[in-house]
Amino acid sequence: MSLSAPAIRARKRSRGDAPLVMVTAYDEPSARYADAAGVDIILVGDSMANVVLGQTDTLHLSVEEMAHHVAAVAAAHPLAHVVADMPWMSYHVGWADAVRNAAVLVRSGAQSVKLEGGHERLEVVRALLDAEIPVMGHLGLTPQSVLAFGGFKVQAKSREAAKLLVEDALLLQEVGVYAIVIEGVPRLVGSEVTAALEIPTIGIGAGPDTDGQVLVFHDLLGMTSRKPARFVRQYAQVGEVITDAIGRYAADVRSGAFPREDESYSNPEELTH
Ligand code: KIV
Repeated sequence: MSLSAPAIRARKRSRGDAPLVMVTAYDEPSARYADAAGVDIILVGDSMANVVLGQTDTLHLSVEEMAHHVAAVAAAHPLAHVVADMPWMSYHVGWADAVRNAAVLVRSGAQSVKLEGGHERLEVVRALLDAEIPVMGHLGLTPQSVLAFGGFKVQAKSREAAKLLVEDALLLQEVGVYAIVIEGVPRLVGSEVTAALEIPTIGIGAGPDTDGQVLVFHDLLGMTSRKPARFVRQYAQVGEVITDAIGRYAADVRSGAFPREDESYSNPEELTH
């Protein structure tokens, strides 16, 4: 039985629980590897636009594209909870539209959805919860706000902005989200918002005091072409392993060393006479 949204909601470090581990995945193999590693939550994130589709922002993904990848992740039958990002514009033009779009993601295999924003999203969050769809919040450096922010910039750097972020988090908690991602804020803000909430926070670039951490699959594994952000720790250089393996394959094809006899189907006698 995979980890449920209510089980995640109950996890709080201040109550002695272990930190939550979340990682993104976008297809069956990445979900399978992440699940085998024992993560708690797999996020089918719209960071897919950056790390899989080579785009510079997350504003061009459709619900259908997201659903396609949610289904691939669900095909791994992970024990981890699967949460799907609601793409930009899939929850901005009315709650009924948002509920229909979230239902597409749930029917594709998501157990909950994540959306960005605070006080301006309360009506939509309420409607999703009324439709029995668990919701994860996302505050701070919300990538879908890149045009409004004027770039991917650390947020909540002033006392006033930090206070507004905590207020937004409390509003989301009151409406009923089960956890909130806190992205790209000073570590003190990560710490303050975590202390203010009964529900867990999951940080990315929010310091060590949140109730969990999330990293993007390709960042963590060293599979991106850009310089990793300050908050990324690369646990492997899988990109180099892939290039090396494909390079050796290419060399073997060119030299005639691949395929060998034992890598070929033997000839039936009828063909040889
Ligand atoms: O899409 C994503 O990967 C995310 C994480 C950065 C939290 O939203």
